[in-house]
Amino acid sequence: MLKIGIIGVGTVGTSVCQILEENKDIITARAGVEITPISGVVNNLSKKRDVKIKLSNNVDDILDDDSIDIVVELMGGVEEPYKVVKKALEKNKAVVTANKALLAYHRYELQEIASNNAFEYEAAVAGGIPIINALRDGLSANHINSIMGILNGTCNYMLTKMINENIPYDIILKEAQDLGYAEADPSFDVGGFDAAHKLLILASIAYGIDAKPEDILIEGIQNINSEDIAFAKEFDYALKLLAIAKKKDNGEVELRVHPVLLPNSTMISKVDGVMNGVSVVGDKVGETMYYGAGAGGDATASAVIANLVDIARAGKSSPMLGFKKPLETGLKLAAKEDIETKYYIRMEVEDKSGVLAKVATIFGTNSISIKTMVQKISKDGVANLLLSTHTSKEKDIKEALNQLKDSGVVKNMPSMIRIEE
Ligand code: HSE
Repeated sequence: MLKIGIIGVGTVGTSVCQILEENKDIITARAGVEITPISGVVNNLSKKRDVKIKLSNNVDDILDDDSIDIVVELMGGVEEPYKVVKKALEKNKAVVTANKALLAYHRYELQEIASNNAFEYEAAVAGGIPIINALRDGLSANHINSIMGILNGTCNYMLTKMINENIPYDIILKEAQDLGYAEADPSFDVGGFDAAHKLLILASIAYGIDAKPEDILIEGIQNINSEDIAFAKEFDYALKLLAIAKKKDNGEVELRVHPVLLPNSTMISKVDGVMNGVSVVGDKVGETMYYGAGAGGDATASAVIANLVDIARAGKSSPMLGFKKPLETGLKLAAKEDIETKYYIRMEVEDKSGVLAKVATIFGTNSISIKTMVQKISKDGVANLLLSTHTSKEKDIKEALNQLKDSGVVKNMPSMIRIEE
């Protein structure tokens, strides 16, 4: 029998206990051994929980218990769980975690510390979708050309409702919180950080890149407004918060999280509501697509238990981040300002002669080629200019937007959304 201690017995921890009980026959047959949760740690002992395990409020009750084989860390946060899982590994226990923030900051140190133990984390990215397994093992023959992920269910739920039902941002955020989709601090969701933490984990497995959240471009959905939504609809684009990893011809890899306009014909654009989806393009396999629940007790517990089964079968599995030796051809993280993509830009201008010429000159002098342009007259001599560009550099776009703001012909800072086609 493998004995499990669960640190953090909330929604996911409770589901882990319940599924291990309910599906015991098939899990035992697959694992070859019975996997039994023995004890759990919670903050609030007086809260009633639907589990049969012994509960305490002291992590050392699990860490110092020599009978426990595997510690399941579901406490959330970064530094506190880091100390806890480090101690568990030092005590020669295997560890399974669903904690994306912990891995976004400490995955390489943990890989070192866990060199002799199993350390698994399937539930940390896209909940129930087995994307870690797919990237680390199933696609190991491939160079990964790109990853595009809808990795935050809260943002996807909000954007889907904003587009399909014209519900304003604040109302739909409150609804996502009430439904339990959002993190305790929803700015992690809407600010793009939750998706970025997950992207960094995938980037390590796909490219061997060690980057921290502060190294990559992260923009959330807070500034999306009804004009952008109307533009997306009119021009038949979907609007998604995408986590993108893209290998460039020069050996650099772009890692970025931001709202994206993308054609409604793409597979990933069809991932709606609270669901997650990941498109991975390998150089040999072509595009592969993964879809499923990115959050929720049972879906996340499904991934946690898959890791428990892996450990039961194999003990220590493949290297934690998928590389036994560093990649000799070494891939480097592209600088944020060198990111290249297409852009949609919207600005309010005075509707009078010379304005368009001035705007066009600013784009031209910053090496930006305009692809399409529409002018919509609003009221009081003010016009809305909507432009899309050919592929341009992030630093040129940022410079052009600043120059437009100071040009005297544009009313406010223009708004911009990147386009992926
Ligand atoms: N808040 C996250 C989401 C939960 O909305 O996807 C899963 O990490």
